[in-house]
Amino acid sequence: MRNLFMTYQTALEKARAAYRPKLPASLSEKSVVLKTPLSTSISEEISSAFPNTFDLPAVTFRDGATSEPAAPIRAGVILSGGPAPGGHNVIAGLFDAIKLINPQSSLFGFLNGPDGLINNKGIELDAAAIAPYRNTGGFDIIGSGRTKLESQEDFEKAMATAQANNLTALIVIGGDDSNSNACKLAEYAKSKGFPLCVVGVPKTIDGDLRGEHIETSFGFDTASKVYSDLIGNIQRDAISARKYWHFIKLMGRSASHIALECALQTRPTITLISEEVAERGLTLRQIVDQIADSVSHRAANGEKFGTVLIPEGLIEFVPEMGALMSELNELLAHHAEAFNALETLPQKREFVSGKLSPVGAALYRSLPDDIANQLILDRDPHGNVQVARIDTQRLLIDLVEARIKEMKATGQFKGSFSPQPHYFGYEGRCAVPSNFDADYTYTLGFTAALLLREGLTGYICSVRHLTHPASEWQAGGIPMAHMMNMERRHGKMVPVIKKALVELDGPAFKEFEKHRNSWAKTTQFAFPGSIQYFGPAEVCDRPTITLELESAAK
Ligand code: FBP
Repeated sequence: MRNLFMTYQTALEKARAAYRPKLPASLSEKSVVLKTPLSTSISEEISSAFPNTFDLPAVTFRDGATSEPAAPIRAGVILSGGPAPGGHNVIAGLFDAIKLINPQSSLFGFLNGPDGLINNKGIELDAAAIAPYRNTGGFDIIGSGRTKLESQEDFEKAMATAQANNLTALIVIGGDDSNSNACKLAEYAKSKGFPLCVVGVPKTIDGDLRGEHIETSFGFDTASKVYSDLIGNIQRDAISARKYWHFIKLMGRSASHIALECALQTRPTITLISEEVAERGLTLRQIVDQIADSVSHRAANGEKFGTVLIPEGLIEFVPEMGALMSELNELLAHHAEAFNALETLPQKREFVSGKLSPVGAALYRSLPDDIANQLILDRDPHGNVQVARIDTQRLLIDLVEARIKEMKATGQFKGSFSPQPHYFGYEGRCAVPSNFDADYTYTLGFTAALLLREGLTGYICSVRHLTHPASEWQAGGIPMAHMMNMERRHGKMVPVIKKALVELDGPAFKEFEKHRNSWAKTTQFAFPGSIQYFGPAEVCDRPTITLELESAAK
């Protein structure tokens, strides 16, 4: 898509271009398919929403030599949503495998996400087009987008595009919503008799598309390692300069998987986990007190520095803030005209305060102006507050500063408190994929091709035993309908893949819980350093600590 930039290659890019992703030993174009019935029960609502695609077996590919002749595959591919390291390798693995399956196979890439499918905009992806993108970060080979493919009309247009391009298959590389819609599209195609197989690939740095059969989404490994590198560097600065408290917000949407993984890798002073905040019903005041206590305790020991990791979605999990945000969503939906007619921000804030409940108004008025403005101005197309845009790191800094001032006034705190805000998100989404993600994504693409070889539709690729060497990974697929549950969206119950949040009784959180009090009191920072691409396997191929702990607990 943008070969201009590809003319110059850095030394690392040249070396990475030659990297051959590792594949499971059992995976080749000849692998034999093994089908096993799924033991998970499926609700009546889901089975009736997916009558053609729910009653399917789990599939694994085993070493062997299938003797079935394979027809050529004409596949279309979409990259959907936020970028995640490894997307290009899914395409490379898919392309290589369909060509091995039948040299007449071909691949068509839709431009800029589902929009390209709906509006029939795409390009042929041949070996030359894919070559410069192997083992690189980004989604720029065809671009990505957040257009939702969900209405009946979208599905009809998608089918027309598929027919116009003679597609026999469509691969959707996306997160929970994109895969939910891929599942609906598979069902739609089947119900209408369109010969189109739809297969999903689990993508997102957030790590929240996971379950019994999906150990992790791709991109989580690289992104959390990039952020951990940055946090480690900041921590080294903190113990060198000995004067700053760093408040670091981390991407990840509602789930705190990234914050938790980074905490395990870097051992910061404090890490907030949104799911725990909700579970314990912690108020903003309690969170602020926890941080201020650590600041005061450490200052008394001569350590005027520290790090606080803050998950992106924290604010919506603090009960009183969650309630305020719901009130604001309702209020602005009902009074949009009057609100929009007001000219200045103070007028808008006053208008909103006057319409909130007494509790909501008191909380809203207590917020710093910047945050109060973000809560009423930055809204998504559905009219909801965009939590990713709220500067939670700055909000916490303001509140902790205010608390420290109170503590100083009563003699509870002596010394200084100098905070620095940071937000890490886009820095990690397009990083050069780690060996783990490069291998995992290539394997996912290869697996997708085998699912297509079998004519399977409504499946998501599943690669398991990811803490083992790649040669021992087990690849296959599971029917996406089995990951669905009913959720209320825009006022009605619809089937969607459930976002997997951090489990407080899971091994990763338990490990963090064991150490966090001592990390808060004495400095025990860890410095993981940057991702290494060449060198010993224990340095270069190690998966995330979350995966290691989960695998050890099985
Ligand atoms: P996906 O869910 O599409 O994988 O995107 C993840 C993410 O990076 C979140 O962590 C973040 O909240 C969001 O995308 C930011 O969205 P945008 O790219 O629209 O700024």
